[in-house]
Amino acid sequence: MNRNASTRFVIPFICLLSLLAFGSSQLDYKFYDNSCPNLSKIIRYGVWSAIANETRIAASLLRLHFHDCFVNGCEGSILLDDSSNFKGEKNAFPNRNSVRGFEVIDAIKQNLEKACPSTVSCTDILTLATRDAVFLSGGPFWPVSLGRRDGLTASEASANTDLPSPFEPLENITAKFISKGLDVKDMVALSGGHTIGFAQCSTFKQRLFDFDGAGNPDPILDAALLGNLRGICPNQDNSDTNLAPFDSTSAKFDNSYFKSLANNSGLLQSDQALMGDNKTAAVVLNYSKFPFLFMRDFASSMVKMGNIAVLTGQDGEIRKNCRVVN
Ligand code: HEM
Ligand SMILES: *[C@@H]1O[C@H](CO)[C@@H](O)[C@H](O)[C@H]1NC(C)=O
Ligand SMILES: *[C@@H]1O[C@H](CO)[C@@H](O)[C@H](O)[C@H]1NC(C)=O
Ligand SMILES: *[C@@H]1O[C@H](CO)[C@@H](O)[C@H](O)[C@H]1NC(C)=O
Ligand SMILES: *[C@@H]1O[C@H](CO)[C@@H](O)[C@H](O)[C@H]1NC(C)=O
Ligand SMILES: *[C@@H]1O[C@H](CO)[C@@H](O)[C@H](O)[C@H]1NC(C)=O
Ligand SMILES: *[C@@H]1O[C@H](CO)[C@@H](O)[C@H](O)[C@H]1NC(C)=O
Repeated sequence: MNRNASTRFVIPFICLLSLLAFGSSQLDYKFYDNSCPNLSKIIRYGVWSAIANETRIAASLLRLHFHDCFVNGCEGSILLDDSSNFKGEKNAFPNRNSVRGFEVIDAIKQNLEKACPSTVSCTDILTLATRDAVFLSGGPFWPVSLGRRDGLTASEASANTDLPSPFEPLENITAKFISKGLDVKDMVALSGGHTIGFAQCSTFKQRLFDFDGAGNPDPILDAALLGNLRGICPNQDNSDTNLAPFDSTSAKFDNSYFKSLANNSGLLQSDQALMGDNKTAAVVLNYSKFPFLFMRDFASSMVKMGNIAVLTGQDGEIRKNCRVVN
């Protein structure tokens, strides 16, 4: 983990991002300063030890936060198990056998309940843990304003409709980002989250063997990568859950995801589609050439994503257990 690259641009951009985030509602950087002074230490330790155990968990936390915020806002709904009142989001199509990281949030929550009981929301924990996971993977750091409260319900149906699918066209994915108050540049920057982590073969296998219904691979996909991926994902059902990295440095938060898109080596069809549109392709090429530009834009788009439809004040609650409503 080389942090020199990150720290160089942390300071100037904290100032910029503070201004950006300031506009958003009643969240406050000092929200828990008195009620839970050790909060950042406890979270950082929890994330650090989880990554020390398994590098990929950083990526999993980032995705968990994204899937929380895109479904009825950042209110911890994805963390809820099914209950008698609702079917939760964990079994929605984009999440089932795929989102991970719940145990990390549970462990941090347990430590926080000892240090400051019934004080810190699960969705603030996830937001901070994601920030730390990205930073510990070599990515940018950004300040997180706090005071989000936990929702009282979850929606499997909303998870199915609001989360983007790797099989839908770019226009549809763009519409989903716009509907959350994010713009095209946010969408490209945030797609750079795929610079860490893995995807299961089922999410891109049709590109390898039968892209056109006539047994041919996706003609755009780089030939060498096609060969590698066919090795990881043989053309049979039992390879569906095998894992392929999104880019060649899947443990490091860098701009190689965008470099890969620029040379036709995107993993998902939806990744490569960012190069198939002039507007998004221009942003991809910018990020492929200027890593710090990507780091800066990713940080500011993460602040925006982390503020989608948050609950504050008397709305929602502070869950005691992130998996169940109090
Ligand atoms: C633009 C539309 C997006 C689509 C269609 C998409 C789709 C996917 C798919 C299919 C996977 C693999 C899941 C699996 O095989 O289990 C995945 C993984 C991942 N996604 Fe996305 N994603 C999108 C945007 C994002 C955004 C905005 C972020 C975060 C800012 C993100 C972060 C991740 C990460 C980090 C992983 C790897 C998770 C792991 O290794 O556990 N994705 N995504
Ligand atoms: C460590 O990572 C493995 C997966 O590689 C996971 O099954 C296990 O629960 C993790 N243990 C801890 C203590 O986080
Ligand atoms: C914060 O942690 C320190 C040790 O790191 C401990 O001495 C102190 O009591 C903790 N404060 C609270 C409020 O939990
Ligand atoms: C894309 O969106 C259009 C309009 O909402 C919809 O009719 C179409 O089914 C969507 N396509 C996919 C593949 O989801
Ligand atoms: C495409 O770019 C990625 C990232 O820089 C690199 O690892 C890969 O070798 C390149 N592939 C080709 C065919 O140039
Ligand atoms: C995209 O760029 C290509 C080549 O630069 C050009 O031929 C095409 O007209 C552009 N398409 C749009 C929609 O701007
Ligand atoms: C590329 O980045 C520069 C800033 O370095 C910016 O002025 C320009 O608008 C960006 N272009 C695109 C297409 O994002």
